[in-house]
Amino acid sequence: MKCKECRNREGDELILITKIVNLQEADPVDAKLAYEEAGAIIRQGGLVAFPTETVYGLGGNGLDEEASGKIYAAKGRPQDNPLILHIADMEQLEMIAEEIPEAARKIAELFWPGPLTMIFPKKSVVPYGTTGGLETVAVRMPAHPVALALIKAAGVPIAAPSANLSGRPSPTTAGHTADDMDGRIEMILDGGPCRIGIESTIVDFTEEIPVVLRPGYITVERLREELGQVALDKALDPDQGENFKPKAPGQKYRHYAPKAEMTLVEGEADKVAERICTLSNEATSQGKRVGILCTSESAERYLQLPRQKRLMIMDLGSRAQLKSAAHYLFDYLRTFDDEEVDVIYSEAFSQDDLGYALMNRMRKAAGHRSIHVE
Ligand code: TXA
Ligand code: MG
Repeated sequence: MKCKECRNREGDELILITKIVNLQEADPVDAKLAYEEAGAIIRQGGLVAFPTETVYGLGGNGLDEEASGKIYAAKGRPQDNPLILHIADMEQLEMIAEEIPEAARKIAELFWPGPLTMIFPKKSVVPYGTTGGLETVAVRMPAHPVALALIKAAGVPIAAPSANLSGRPSPTTAGHTADDMDGRIEMILDGGPCRIGIESTIVDFTEEIPVVLRPGYITVERLREELGQVALDKALDPDQGENFKPKAPGQKYRHYAPKAEMTLVEGEADKVAERICTLSNEATSQGKRVGILCTSESAERYLQLPRQKRLMIMDLGSRAQLKSAAHYLFDYLRTFDDEEVDVIYSEAFSQDDLGYALMNRMRKAAGHRSIHVE
């Protein structure tokens, strides 16, 4: 359906009327109809955004080059950045991947459906328009009933990047998705907030030793328990990374960026809070609006600061609860955008386990700006 002379809140001309279907409250008959409609849209080359356990995805027929082209256009995404194909069963994996090593089968058995993406040599049925010209294909079986039902209804693997405009934080609710995609795609399936909140772990199985290209909810430690040796893409090193070209093309772009300039403050917890208080004080006294991303342990200190009206304090949860911080990070970065804060100061988290993925996203959001306090 075309929409004449409509604009979204960014002022862009709307090309389409986006239908938003709330599946959380739908009865089974309505849900079935919605999946049939969404599946047909995908088969006909249109786009449907849908929830996964990590973030919302922007889906199109992964075997249709034209549909992939529409995904890039809707997101404003560079064409050399390949898409992940989402599958609902192992038969679909056999259909698109040329060689599946035993180690990858073991990982699929353990972690699929789940927040893990694997890279394989592609079969010819997967167009280069989906893989950004690469000979390999990224594949994931998501652990979300809406995602799985949609893939089954479509009957094809669904190519889906995160459903944000390129450069914006990944969407973790249907509302975030609509903020970015309204008027650009045919349909959004609302399955409520995503459980995990950061994107899947990506493991490349085309090398002798599997390589993690993007850290995620399935930790490097956990993968090493199962696989023994697991390498890390050199570009992931926070100190050296800038000297290496990431093997996942998307990792070279400044992702997850809030509009405000964000700085990470790292070091001993008390000193970190002290420095953030000083920096925030300076900024609010200059009339700036300040966002603070903090842990529950120190939230109280920021509430004592003067000029609270210029401060927005967002509590990511306890330092010991990395899952909570991962769940809320992108949501809070979008809130800062909506509130038009000028600068963001953020506490850092531990680098262990899920903290590795969390800090990878936080460093990107901060454009690698960080201060160490002794
Ligand atoms: O959790 C997720 O993975 C979400 C949900 C929707 O499934 N998807 C997601 O997609 O994060 P996207 O497009 O935002 O990020 C995919 C990343 C990019 O950095 C891309 O460069 C990389 O995966 N990638 C895709 N195919 C690849 C390939 N064949 N080789 C190397 N990297 C690849
Ligand atoms: Mg993305």
